[in-house]
Amino acid sequence: MHISIITVLPRLIESPFGDSILKRAQNKGLAQVEIVDLRQYATGKHKPVDDYAFGGGAGMVMMIEPIEKCINDLKSKRPYDEVIYMSPDGELFTQSIANELSLKKNLILLCGHYKGVDERVREHLITREISIGDYVLSGGELAAAVVADAVIRLIPGVLSDETSALTDSFQDGLVAPPVYTRPAEYNGWKVPEVLLSGDHSKIEEWKHEKALERTKKRRPNLLK
Ligand code: ADE
Repeated sequence: MHISIITVLPRLIESPFGDSILKRAQNKGLAQVEIVDLRQYATGKHKPVDDYAFGGGAGMVMMIEPIEKCINDLKSKRPYDEVIYMSPDGELFTQSIANELSLKKNLILLCGHYKGVDERVREHLITREISIGDYVLSGGELAAAVVADAVIRLIPGVLSDETSALTDSFQDGLVAPPVYTRPAEYNGWKVPEVLLSGDHSKIEEWKHEKALERTKKRRPNLLK
């Protein structure tokens, strides 16, 4: 998978991809993350990427021209399945969207800034809009990093224990059950007996029960 992230602040988004699972995914050739500096596509002496809003109002608006040039340049190198604009009023990001995107080959994530992009970008240049939650970040970069992380870890071969993504919260419509490790007793606090029993069917039954119980308590909307 190739993910191109278009941003005016490349440094803001570089570090998550230089560490741990996301770095390993790239080293193994399973995912490639390209950070594209939008300013390279700006023209004029000061290379502006934003301008005042027509009709007035506070805040600058990202201009369509550098964005279109940038997207066209990227598209000339590979076919993209989706051009996604990161926006607080986009479709709410979920595990199910992450699963869907993990099956794509090439994605563009466009990060907004200031008051957002000229509406014509949203009307004509993108295929989808994603929000990571009902709150406003200072730009789309952190949201793009969240989406790229959630998607890349689902690509087969990225996680060393391949089953671990399947047992994540939300994958089966439930949150994950509690987990424990050694010691079996600490300060008198004990690990549930069943987990030490070695009886796999009983353990699976317990995990399902706990996942259900936890979902009812914390995310009852998932059970509807
Ligand atoms: N840009 C600013 N806030 C955002 C959010 N919540 N989700 C996606 N992109 C954003």
